[in-house]
Amino acid sequence: MGITADIATDWHAALAALAWQVDLGVGDVVLDAPLNRYELAEPVKPPLPEAERPVAVAPPPKATTSTAAIAAAETAAGSARTLDDLREALALYEHCELKRGARNLVFADGNPKARVLILGEAPGREEDLEGRPFVGRAGQLLDRMFAAIGLSRQSPDPGKALYITNVMPWRPPQNRDPSQDEIAMMRPFVQRHIALVDPDVVVVVGNTPLQAALNITGILRQRGRWAQAFGKPVLPMTHPAYLLRNPAAKREAWADLLSLQAKLRG
Ligand code: URA
Repeated sequence: MGITADIATDWHAALAALAWQVDLGVGDVVLDAPLNRYELAEPVKPPLPEAERPVAVAPPPKATTSTAAIAAAETAAGSARTLDDLREALALYEHCELKRGARNLVFADGNPKARVLILGEAPGREEDLEGRPFVGRAGQLLDRMFAAIGLSRQSPDPGKALYITNVMPWRPPQNRDPSQDEIAMMRPFVQRHIALVDPDVVVVVGNTPLQAALNITGILRQRGRWAQAFGKPVLPMTHPAYLLRNPAAKREAWADLLSLQAKLRG
């Protein structure tokens, strides 16, 4: 009895410890056993003979965060005639550091004929693994929220469908917020993406897409206030991840969903 209870406790404790590490952002196991690197002595290396010393070489091409990166994004995005072209153009774009740490390009999901396009921030861990936007907990809440007004990413009917994409197609490390430079270099792709899908309405969820669309932050103040960007009516809403942490804010989100529904009917 005592042994069974101990095994059960250990199992639950181990599971809780693992969940805690996943929450902290640990994504991969590198070694079979833990290794405390602070306890390792620094190896003292003898100097290399002159002939074997490394010669300085030109550094590998560094991702640029300048106007050059934005110009390259404008050229690449501008030449995309279809959504497949645009996905290909993003896959070939080398100016964004985030690409190097990501497993997958997360392009979009849903019905490209939808009247409503949802623009999110950036993929998280689950999205990075699966290559689809909003598939984690926040994504499940997003699906439930829009289902409440009859919209779904699975619907073949453009009037009931959603198309979902993000400002950033690559996961930022530790889910940090994308930088101003990263948002600026992705903006031409977002603009082209919206032009190709040509929805009636764009819903921006969170500060990153609010910044990409309207060049402002402060989603808690801006939510529910219709604006115009990318040649479309834009509705700012709080991000579902925020609603998971602040369930009381769901009341305002519901008001925003009703405002969207009225706009689509009107
Ligand atoms: N949050 C986002 O903004 N986008 C995703 O795809 C997932 C979580």
